Amino acid sequence: MSKRIFLIVSVLVLASLILAACAPAATPAPAVEEPAAEEPAAEEPAAEEPAAEEPAAAGALKIAILAPLSGSVPTFGVSTRDGALLAIKEWNAKGGVLGMQIEPVVEDSQCEADPSVNAANKVIDQDGVHYIVGEVCSKASIPISEIAQEKGVVQISPTSTNETVTLKADGTTKEYVFRACFIDPFQGKVGAKFALDNLGAKNAFILFDQGNDYVRGLAEAFEATFTENGGTIVGKETYTSSDTDFSAILAKVSEAKPDIVYLPDYYNIINLVTAQAKEKGITAPFMGGDGWDSADLDRAAADGGYYTNHYSDQDTRQIVQDWVKNYQAEYGSVPDALATLAYDATNLLIAAIESAGVDDPAKVKDSLAAISWEGVSGTITYDEFHNPIKAAVILQVKDGEIVYVATVAP
Ligand code: PHE
Repeated sequence: MSKRIFLIVSVLVLASLILAACAPAATPAPAVEEPAAEEPAAEEPAAEEPAAEEPAAAGALKIAILAPLSGSVPTFGVSTRDGALLAIKEWNAKGGVLGMQIEPVVEDSQCEADPSVNAANKVIDQDGVHYIVGEVCSKASIPISEIAQEKGVVQISPTSTNETVTLKADGTTKEYVFRACFIDPFQGKVGAKFALDNLGAKNAFILFDQGNDYVRGLAEAFEATFTENGGTIVGKETYTSSDTDFSAILAKVSEAKPDIVYLPDYYNIINLVTAQAKEKGITAPFMGGDGWDSADLDRAAADGGYYTNHYSDQDTRQIVQDWVKNYQAEYGSVPDALATLAYDATNLLIAAIESAGVDDPAKVKDSLAAISWEGVSGTITYDEFHNPIKAAVILQVKDGEIVYVATVAP
């Protein structure tokens, strides 16, 4: 940057600071040192205990929302962003937090590791965020969690259910990493028990994507509970996320004649596999997990299928019905589990910032670990691994509707 441009930029920065200081916001803008003349440094050294002395510009507190807005599961991203933004809007309408307005920083992390790592580094190093809501997908949240933990940034994933999201390799808890959802060992168990006890299934066939942490973990959890309780796995086949033709593995399903097919993947894969299964004349019901939850689930192809999930919009609790009404007023659609958990996760995080009383992630992580918060998806308190203990619901795809079947407490 030339001296002259730098001077103009400095004057502009100063002018905006003065304007901000004159604005009716509660906190006076602190005098900020002149920024270095170079381009913004791409990489700031990661401090062990991140200092709180550098508030975001103009007294705003930034919260990053990392979600898959593009890629294979875009409805996950849109719902997550919208749920989180609604929570932020409500806090801001009440005056924000710690006297600051909350500024969302939204990045598209695509439900994939590399874009997620880039997005996390960008929001931390360039935008200076101390708090991340995201990602949705476990395989994206896991690499983000390594960065959050290393850089001392608080991360809360609304929906990543794989057990390892909050765990270090040695099995201890990542102090800075939290989630707002139950975990897959529980979700898989609920699915398996329901198949055995309520559907009377004795034989199950499992189809899963070996390369997806969430899918693999859920398949393992289902198998363990199903077999421990007297069920038999009559076949197990893998595919990859880029497959589009499932005829070879579906031929094996036809042959094995299972009572149920467990397919714990995301809706884009469910749509392909269940449509091809119908063409093949497979009548055994499919069953899966929260990854089925999407406005773009092909309800005709998946008809008769069951899935475990975090929430049902048919829940009659007042807090749920108020939420459905508010969300509908804002966006014109019924909130899915992703929107609901993003709303809960964002509220939880902001409540923890408020109770910490300071914009310091090292303090906020401690207040989050100790929180008790009544969310739309249930009351959240954390166990030692930063997992909330929460009930699951079972839903059925039936005649074009998503029908609430049961709630299963842990
Ligand atoms: N649980 C999924 C995962 O960990 C993400 C997901 C949650 C998808 C809820 C849809 C609904 O990858």
